[in-house]
Amino acid sequence: MSDFQRTLVTTALPYANGPVHLGHLAGVYLPADIYVRYKRLKGEDIIHIGGSDEHGVPITITAEKEGISPRDVVDRYHRMNLDAFSKCHISFDYYGRTTSEVHHKTAQEFFLEIEQKGIFQQKTEKLFFDTKAERFLSDRYVTGTCPICNNPEANGDQCEQCGTHLSPLELINPKSKLSDATPELRDTMHWYFPLGRFQEQLEVYVNEHDLQTISPDDVTKRIDSLWRSNVINYTRTWLKQGLNDRAITRDLSWGIKVPLESEEAAGKVLYVWFDAVLGYISFTKEWAVERGESNLWTSYWQDPKCRLVHFIGKDNVVFHTLMFPAILMAWNEGRDHDCYNLADNVPASEFMNFEGRKFSKSRNYAVYLGEFLEKFPADTLRYSIAMNYPENKDTDFSWQDFQNRTNGELADTLGNFIKRSVDFTNSKFDGVVPIDCPSDVMKSFTVILTHDNDVEIDELGNRVDLDDLIDEIGQAYEQFHFRDAVSKTMDIARKANRFLTQNEPWKLIKSDRDAAAKIMSVSLNLCHTLALLFYPVIPETCNRIYAMLGFEGTIESLIKPGVSLLEQAKMPGLQKGHKLCGNSEILFTKIEDSAIAPELEKIAALLAEAEKREAGAEQCRMEFKPEISFDDFQKVDLRVARVIAAEKVQKAGKLLKLQLQVGSVTKQVLAGIAKHYTPEEMIGKNVVLVANLAERSIRDEVSEGMILAVEGADGKLFVLEPSGDEINGKLIQ
Ligand code: MF3
Ligand code: ZN
Repeated sequence: MSDFQRTLVTTALPYANGPVHLGHLAGVYLPADIYVRYKRLKGEDIIHIGGSDEHGVPITITAEKEGISPRDVVDRYHRMNLDAFSKCHISFDYYGRTTSEVHHKTAQEFFLEIEQKGIFQQKTEKLFFDTKAERFLSDRYVTGTCPICNNPEANGDQCEQCGTHLSPLELINPKSKLSDATPELRDTMHWYFPLGRFQEQLEVYVNEHDLQTISPDDVTKRIDSLWRSNVINYTRTWLKQGLNDRAITRDLSWGIKVPLESEEAAGKVLYVWFDAVLGYISFTKEWAVERGESNLWTSYWQDPKCRLVHFIGKDNVVFHTLMFPAILMAWNEGRDHDCYNLADNVPASEFMNFEGRKFSKSRNYAVYLGEFLEKFPADTLRYSIAMNYPENKDTDFSWQDFQNRTNGELADTLGNFIKRSVDFTNSKFDGVVPIDCPSDVMKSFTVILTHDNDVEIDELGNRVDLDDLIDEIGQAYEQFHFRDAVSKTMDIARKANRFLTQNEPWKLIKSDRDAAAKIMSVSLNLCHTLALLFYPVIPETCNRIYAMLGFEGTIESLIKPGVSLLEQAKMPGLQKGHKLCGNSEILFTKIEDSAIAPELEKIAALLAEAEKREAGAEQCRMEFKPEISFDDFQKVDLRVARVIAAEKVQKAGKLLKLQLQVGSVTKQVLAGIAKHYTPEEMIGKNVVLVANLAERSIRDEVSEGMILAVEGADGKLFVLEPSGDEINGKLIQ
């Protein structure tokens, strides 16, 4: 295995512009916390650094909407999210804020270092300027009509209706959101980070983490350093397209000032993404200061023996696999000291949906973490969400699933096993472990049923050792397979529960007290094992089990550098004579239908609202456009065309670039259908082309027409496909 000595885990900094919801928890914070707790349990040196992303335009928009300052906005959500995380037992070693002084200094230091090396480029570009508000307008402050779908309220960076990424310059009839004025284009200078300059270095870096390209000798040694296929795919797509210069400054007042005295730097701040990723470093510095060892942060960032792991959602991949590494490469360039490590792994999640729909803040469809935890205990949520971890594909979480897992798995399996073991010992053995647990029996408890000396094998016909099961769980954690790890842990509880049930100590005790004592000593020791094994996912419950077993202190108090509690979980931890605490408690309260009924109602209401909105949109379309003359109609040249080639357009996720054969002519058309058709599906189709539409350029690509499509249920687009013999190029009339 690898020779890392410690680990630095970071979690994507949530914008302090709204409360975190269950989707964020599932994709980023819970898996990170589970991983960190697992590593701590193994006695490894690991820290978890997170915090609030407090800059960026959306925060200023919220502030303006509410008539408060951006500072008020970030104060509110920083506190709210920190509180929700702590209620959920996300055990950050430090949770910082990008508005801190240390962070501003760190980000400025990075800017200056790269500026002084002459790596940045300066480019003057034309940006919209609001003459009434006397401000340059960042993309989100411009609104207008979408050139793709004609939505009259598209944002300058993206159209919400069709999802196309836009630049404000592409909007038809642009308006300033600040004053409603039509903005004018003015020159402004910005600093650009030349990502392309690092293309080769980045490729070498990515190759070391891709199963397809890593040297065969390294595969087994560095198996935990291999990136998931989604991470590789997003990153490779970018690399293949060639990396472009990225503007890293903005004309704004809220943010980190460009640390130069020059006139051209006035009124400019660092782009939020440039500053946010550096927050990981700033917060590690702050953590070290708080610990009274202000230099300690360098052991986590600048010592190659530290493994850096970023937990993020899939929408943040390239910022962590290309942008941030390139920034660090720029810093490291030409240095032989104070060099930064690049991420060793970037476990990015897919999305967890809820009741069949994507969480969406703008559509008010979300279940917020803080609110959830006012009604249900953290551990039931942590377990259920871990079992829905969106590792390779989007998953769906539902109230029903939450109820089933809580009642069936946590209460009936784990809770029931622990309580029966403890209760029976309390009532029949005075609450004392009656004999030493034979470690060979414990090791193979899944196969040995002692009451009639029967030897059974497990469901699959295998003899499974406890040691092997625990090793498998460990491996799953190491490779970021959280669902697998947690469900294997629950499997052990299930086997333990079955062990107790099938051995029937309550009957056995009447005829053979020693045999019953043996069963109970094995069961109690399995309780101890489970308290340790489940600790990463349900820490609070595990501490309660630990207390019920008669231990003082918490599992955290057992954690020691270099001591693996996971290894200890394989061996009996309770000796003969060990006294339990004497009581038992119900670890998990079952969730009644009546408890989730109001939640289901709320979801139904949200869904109904969404449907109404969609139906409203439907009705809107019945308001016909103003009448046109027959002659006007005749001006439109509609033709049957055939798709002869199709490909995705870089950086415009919704666009396909189509080459159309219309009679003897070929035309290129950009169509916003990439979410509905793959390029392969389009090739060979007959489509209806608006052939005489004025040429337009979108994203540096020319579009020489439009093809007709209709929106069906759920926003799915259907391209109109005329059929007939030899109709290519024919007029449609
Ligand atoms: N605030 C960003 C988001 O929520 C994530 C920032 S991750 C960081 O998408 F590394 F840049 F902080
Ligand atoms: Zn649109």
